[in-house]
Amino acid sequence: MYPLRRNRRLRSNDAIRRLVRETVLTPNDFLVPLFVVEGKGIREEIPSMPNYFRLSLDQLEKETKELWNMGLCAVLLFVKVPDNLKDNKGVEALNAEGLMQRGIKTVKNACPDMLVMTDVALDPYSSYGHDGIVADGRIANDETVEVLAEMSVSHARAGADFVAPSDMMDGRILAIREALEEEGLPDTGIMSYSAKYASAFYGPFRDALDSAPVDVQNVPKDKKTYQMDPANRFEALTETQMDIDEGADIVMVKPGLCYLDIVREIRNEVDVPVAVYQVSGEYAMLKAAAGKGWLDHDAVMMEQLIAIKRAGANIIASYFAKDAVKLMG
Ligand code: PBG
Repeated sequence: MYPLRRNRRLRSNDAIRRLVRETVLTPNDFLVPLFVVEGKGIREEIPSMPNYFRLSLDQLEKETKELWNMGLCAVLLFVKVPDNLKDNKGVEALNAEGLMQRGIKTVKNACPDMLVMTDVALDPYSSYGHDGIVADGRIANDETVEVLAEMSVSHARAGADFVAPSDMMDGRILAIREALEEEGLPDTGIMSYSAKYASAFYGPFRDALDSAPVDVQNVPKDKKTYQMDPANRFEALTETQMDIDEGADIVMVKPGLCYLDIVREIRNEVDVPVAVYQVSGEYAMLKAAAGKGWLDHDAVMMEQLIAIKRAGANIIASYFAKDAVKLMG
């Protein structure tokens, strides 16, 4: 009871604050998303993601080495597919010499110990901008799952350590796990986007990959029939538990900040590692406010990242990874 207990004693100087700090960020916490494009010498800034770039393979090699030297040990690859290679079925996704497959090899050649995770979903390959095959105005679940399983095998053969299905089709984790086992790839892991919400925070990412759903008749205008309703909580637990039962090694909640209640709940319920994706819109919001001088960029960034970890994230996918590690000194 006050005055015997004065809580401020544990906050009275930096040393005691360091001593009693419960959550600490390290470079090991981060998964670095990277956007890969065709070409040479390309490092183009994404307009809605200031200071974040699309990289051609030679630049990807350079970036990989830089990340590794900073102590960052895992990347998550996304590709921007040229329009002429897009179709409804994602045929290009299975090309053993496709951009993703070459990207995986580029990272592994540059730094063999860098962990490589790959995005598995059809949207960057889809002429309709959907994560699955469009048929009769709907996203065809089971046909899509077949392609996702083949895509995962293709990534694994190219050298991916983990595949990361971000599509939210039903049953895809089991199909991917079985396909990997059948093809003699039992060591390839699966990080499942298990509680992925139909969020408006993905806008800048869709700019980066030119992957937004197109406005064409008989094509759904949004992803609400497969990504989750932001209003729902129990469903996140069901999705996550099912993915674990189907063979996911790591589960993920996405986006980050608006969903930290879900992160905590899942962290309390499951015993596999939980990843959180701090998405493009979260990045863009802070860059915009800081650009106007309205927020202190570095302070807010670190506060957000520590909040994500405190909520229960074991892995944080974040466009701020490099900036944050630089501040860690
Ligand atoms: C697509 C995918 C998306 C993101 C990762 N994978 C966008 C979407 O679902 O439309 C979003 C990442 C971000 O916004 O940073 N499968």
